[in-house]
Amino acid sequence: MSRHPLVDRLRASAPHVSVGVLTADWMSLGSQLKLLESAGVELLHFDVMDGNFCPLLTLGAPVVAGLKTPLLKDVHLMIEEPLAKVDGFAAAGADIITIHAESTRHVHRVLQALGRMTNANDPNRGIVRGLALNPGTSLESIEPVVDELELVLVLAVNPGWGGQKFISATKERVARVRQMVGEDVLICVDGGITRDNIAEVARMGADIIVTGSAVFDGKSPLENAKYMIEAIQ
Ligand code: DX5
Ligand code: ZN
Repeated sequence: MSRHPLVDRLRASAPHVSVGVLTADWMSLGSQLKLLESAGVELLHFDVMDGNFCPLLTLGAPVVAGLKTPLLKDVHLMIEEPLAKVDGFAAAGADIITIHAESTRHVHRVLQALGRMTNANDPNRGIVRGLALNPGTSLESIEPVVDELELVLVLAVNPGWGGQKFISATKERVARVRQMVGEDVLICVDGGITRDNIAEVARMGADIIVTGSAVFDGKSPLENAKYMIEAIQ
């Protein structure tokens, strides 16, 4: 058992698909989110980029707060110095807040601060604290903060560029992270995941699998989402 009810629930029923909202049809976002729900998707992935940590500038806490959905809000902060920003995302209703190991020299402090925040949707749910690692970052950066996190996000692409190819070294990295963190921490794999490789990613032992443009492809999000859910069973 972990220290965290949401972690226990997500681990027990893993793997889960977390769909990236960036490439959704923003002119009909409400119905797009309903499609995800009807397909059995449980998490919505928000790629927050500040144009400094990585090239793109995307969305902030007001957008996370503004999307009314029963889906769990999985917030991936690709921003410099997240300490000053995490409370805004907690207040916006984030269920998972993932910071980057490369984005601050005070990783432990940010995770400690997150550990004191309450979940705006449900105070009993808590906030899952995630640490994300770029493909070029050593896994050793997990070790000093392993007691201050509930999730490790292994990026399978370099952040900030959509539609990249899945980096094959991710498989070995996921296996090593599982050895480092044990069974009570969620492992998330994010980036470059499509119909062609999602089943393989599930076999790697990922608890949460992020896929964005392969679901919101501008053509058939419902069929894509259903396919992804089927493929990871
Ligand atoms: C890195 C982001 C990923 C990625 C997902 O840029 O954290 O969520 O964009 O997008 P797809 O699934 O389209 O690669
Ligand atoms: Zn992401």
